Amino acid sequence: MPTSKRPIVIVTRKLPEAVETRMCELFDARLNVGDNPMSHAELGQAVKTADVLVPTVTDRIDRSLLSQAGPQLKLIANFGTGVDNIDLDTARVRGIIVTNTPGVLTEDTADMTMALILAVPRRLAEGTVLLKDPHKHWPGWSPTWMLGHRIWGKRLGIIGMGRIGQAVARRAKAFGLQIHYHNRRRVSGDTEHELEATYWESLDQMLARMDIVSVNCPHTPATYHLLSARRLKLLKPTAYIVNTARGEVIDENELARMVEAGQIAGAGLDVFENEPAINPKLLASDRVVALPHLGSATIEGRIDMGEKVIINIKTFLDGHNPPDRVHPAMF
Ligand code: 8YV
Repeated sequence: MPTSKRPIVIVTRKLPEAVETRMCELFDARLNVGDNPMSHAELGQAVKTADVLVPTVTDRIDRSLLSQAGPQLKLIANFGTGVDNIDLDTARVRGIIVTNTPGVLTEDTADMTMALILAVPRRLAEGTVLLKDPHKHWPGWSPTWMLGHRIWGKRLGIIGMGRIGQAVARRAKAFGLQIHYHNRRRVSGDTEHELEATYWESLDQMLARMDIVSVNCPHTPATYHLLSARRLKLLKPTAYIVNTARGEVIDENELARMVEAGQIAGAGLDVFENEPAINPKLLASDRVVALPHLGSATIEGRIDMGEKVIINIKTFLDGHNPPDRVHPAMF
């Protein structure tokens, strides 16, 4: 890349103003002011031109796209922690470095997870709809009306005990939940002790015993439909599922069928298998709280993510190893 020219950084979606302003100061930043998701053809054009591409979860950076990349594309600085939108193996083979934004959205995502753990068993969505919908009627308070379930003392099974899983566990413990978890690797004894967490090597065995299950693992080939139809059937019919990770980890059609059939008590879902499409059975159910992928959607979080993207790009352009470099083996 000629040193006299500023590197071309193509940003696929609109980012917070402070982030875009700084990017324009540092780079030849090509922004998406209209915030329209880029088509495959537009992304193809971008990888032919950009020195650095800044995609998000809405951009599929797959093999066919990467095969169109020009030799000048050396870094994909993902605006997001999950990198399941990027074909990491193909990027590695083509010598393109990939970075992400871990850490800065841990607390926000854990808050959202806790909000869903609280909201679903206590029927918050149903209650709000009842009051706001002019076709519904609140007959007034009654001792036996709209009863939910207590979460204090119940068992929470966390799938994926990374940063976010642990942040969820800390919150949940404060709410009196018993912490159980399944992870590829057992966490340290100190962490287990702090969280009073019980490790389950067998996901199947854990699922059968939980009152609430929270999905907090990344989406990888190994976790695609980890909660398959077979595993979903292991859950107690009184169990709730919360997912703030990636929709692909759950077989959404089977979950929707089970919700409709009353074979599972309810679900709190921030992510879906085919976003922005959502299985209509989930939306139709008053036992499902559905959110449009808001886990990290705080102004502070998104600015921090932008900061991380900038640091990764800047470090890389200065000839150093970017701090949040992602290796395929990490997933
Ligand atoms: C973002 C996320 O909404 O970072 C992630 O993995 O799921 C969310 O924080 C999105 O992925 C940004 O690309």
